[in-house]
Amino acid sequence: MGSIVMPEALSKDESEITFTALTPHIGSLVKGIDASKPVPPAVMARLRRELADRSVLVLRDQALTPAQHIALSREFGPLEKHVLSDFCLPGHPEIFVVSNIIEDGRHIGAHGGSKRYHSDLSYLPEPSLGSLFYCLECPEEGGETAFASMFAAFDALPEARKTWLAARNGVHDYVWNYERAHSKNRAPLTEEQKAKTPPVLHPAVRTHPENGRPALFISEIFTRTFDGENEAESQALVREIMEFATQPAFVYEHEWRPRDLIIWDNRSAVHKAMPFDEENTRRRMHRTTITGDRPFFDG
Ligand code: OGA
Ligand code: MN
Repeated sequence: MGSIVMPEALSKDESEITFTALTPHIGSLVKGIDASKPVPPAVMARLRRELADRSVLVLRDQALTPAQHIALSREFGPLEKHVLSDFCLPGHPEIFVVSNIIEDGRHIGAHGGSKRYHSDLSYLPEPSLGSLFYCLECPEEGGETAFASMFAAFDALPEARKTWLAARNGVHDYVWNYERAHSKNRAPLTEEQKAKTPPVLHPAVRTHPENGRPALFISEIFTRTFDGENEAESQALVREIMEFATQPAFVYEHEWRPRDLIIWDNRSAVHKAMPFDEENTRRRMHRTTITGDRPFFDG
């Protein structure tokens, strides 16, 4: 009898969890979960549904070791190991460190990037499903993360624009962006790193595989061109559409506190880091990145 899992035990846990909307379109504050402990399957199912519908889940006051962060992340799917292996946590290649901190003359994490809206790993044929981002240290001011709902953005576009975008692919190009954005502040990519990240085509609008809703899938960082358009025209369109898509009504901006954990859905939200005093303050974040599927549009 000892091996029987009582259904009451799971539903009791589930009933203790609350979700509060952070803005009308995006973001949910989750209370009642200790992310350092195994999460029962019924609670995981509820979290996945909330993530699909609200794109961003915020959990405050979580005391997480790297191993616990990884264990919770694995409940959402297999994890990526980032192409920039220098910025992964020693001993834990699943954790990508995002930080401005320099130790022993070396950056401990990715720095000086991600200040424009993007979806993680959109440059892969199978971009990330979502990411779990954990705050270890943050400045008192600045360094927020902004998230924009690509469901709300698509829904609000004029019909002619929706039709145009729904028939388009975007080219997502990691190497092109790296060379324009990081040539001054990071080591050049090796031929091996470049070979791992050739340009890929993705639909400009994707169907969310869990709830069927259409979401814009465009990155200010990685979308280089739309098929049929040259680079200058494409870049002008990316700017115009993303300016519309990231208007305040569709955005949740998170002010970090140490021990905050955010789970975001890369299939329906874009995000970016806000500026902070990188010279005089410390910011240290740990990210796990869940492997995803090939984007599709079945509109
Ligand atoms: C990331 C990212 C934003 C931030 O780690 O994927 O985009 O606020 N981070 O640091
Ligand atoms: Mn990112």
